[in-house]
Amino acid sequence: MADLRIQPSSGLRGELTLPGDKSISHRSVLFAAIADGDTHISGFLTGEDTQNTAKAMQAMGIAIEGLGTEHLVVHGKGLDGLSEPASVLDLGNSGTGMRLLAGLLAGQDFFSVLTGDQYLTKRPMARIVEPLRRMGAKIDGRSGGRLAPLSIRGGGKTLCSIEYASPVASAQVKSAVLLAGLYADGETTVNEPSKSRDHTERMFRFFGVEVRGQGTNVTVQGRQRLRAQGPIAIPSDISSAAFFMVAASIVPGSDLLIKNVGVNPTRTGIIDVLTAMGADIELGNQREQAGEPVADIRVRHRKLHGVQIGGEMIPRTIDEIPVLAVAASYAEGKTIIKDAAELRVKESDRIATIAVELRTMGATVIEFPDGMEIIGRESLKGALCDSHGDHRIAMSVAVAGLAARGETVVRDTDWIDTSFPGFERLLRNAAYL
Ligand code: S3P
Repeated sequence: MADLRIQPSSGLRGELTLPGDKSISHRSVLFAAIADGDTHISGFLTGEDTQNTAKAMQAMGIAIEGLGTEHLVVHGKGLDGLSEPASVLDLGNSGTGMRLLAGLLAGQDFFSVLTGDQYLTKRPMARIVEPLRRMGAKIDGRSGGRLAPLSIRGGGKTLCSIEYASPVASAQVKSAVLLAGLYADGETTVNEPSKSRDHTERMFRFFGVEVRGQGTNVTVQGRQRLRAQGPIAIPSDISSAAFFMVAASIVPGSDLLIKNVGVNPTRTGIIDVLTAMGADIELGNQREQAGEPVADIRVRHRKLHGVQIGGEMIPRTIDEIPVLAVAASYAEGKTIIKDAAELRVKESDRIATIAVELRTMGATVIEFPDGMEIIGRESLKGALCDSHGDHRIAMSVAVAGLAARGETVVRDTDWIDTSFPGFERLLRNAAYL
């Protein structure tokens, strides 16, 4: 069990490139596996979550060269090329891995079992099990199918298309249903209460699959074949960049350039919220890579002020709210976050866990069922903190420590490797130049 020791920084400086986007990495290997022909992927995230997804595809007969590196060649076997795995598929800590795979497996003509670690097996699965059962997949699991392990006997050719009104704005639910929809006869439509990240739709198009609809409504026609229209260059993960964006905003003397970051509008809530808080953020060198917008992001320190966020902003900032809570703790005035009850069912209950850790460092945080209120201060104090087994809580607390008085120790930080291998090295390079 590793600890991270963080001393106050006198400014984050320099240029850095961060690991590949987690959401896009998961999708790239899943889609390439069921495509016709080979797909070359660069910038693949070597974190545990995406490695587990790639290993699951190997277990279903897909040859993948370069696993463990950022460059993969996936030898796709076409829409019906997967074979029954000999053993249980273990997705570790990853909700995305499990939920997207469940959608894909719902369309197969074989039996499979999905499991995960002590955190993933507590997270809600009914949100995907229910629509996939309606499409004809036979799914069972603990607690009547609400919790993993999940066993799936796919519907194969008998799967039926649906029009599904998802009660939550979740790209994982949307993607699971659309992936199953690819195997169904007819058109499958997903409606969601507000727009979640659209990497699945973009990558479908990149693989030549026609996707209709816009905003909160997406439709895919079943039985379309996939073929990559070129190599996939995965940009850096804006959710990883978020830790550096907040760190550079709150630590005086900072001037940081984060290169090659994915700036898909469904993910850039962190830029909008920090800008609304008064942050100094500039985007340069904007371009497109494999259907995804990319830019370099420059962040300089500037005093922040409190802000209110809720509604449609929440799906656009969902993974960044813990680190936004850190920004709010150092901002002038009050920040209110609402409509974010989904945070309670992430890798940890992120409303409770970030509130506890920020309070340990002297912040004023009031919890609501669906969010929190934070009263900002000039400074926090270094403290002994805990990750709660959650990568984003560990990294958020480390960022808070950079601007605090005295040393901060974050306990149990191995979890960071699920999404951001090399975080400590990159942070130290930037923060203590
Ligand atoms: C993800 C979707 C989000 C996000 C997760 C990755 C994805 O979850 O929190 O880290 O890649 O589809 P929900 O869609 O369930 O909100």
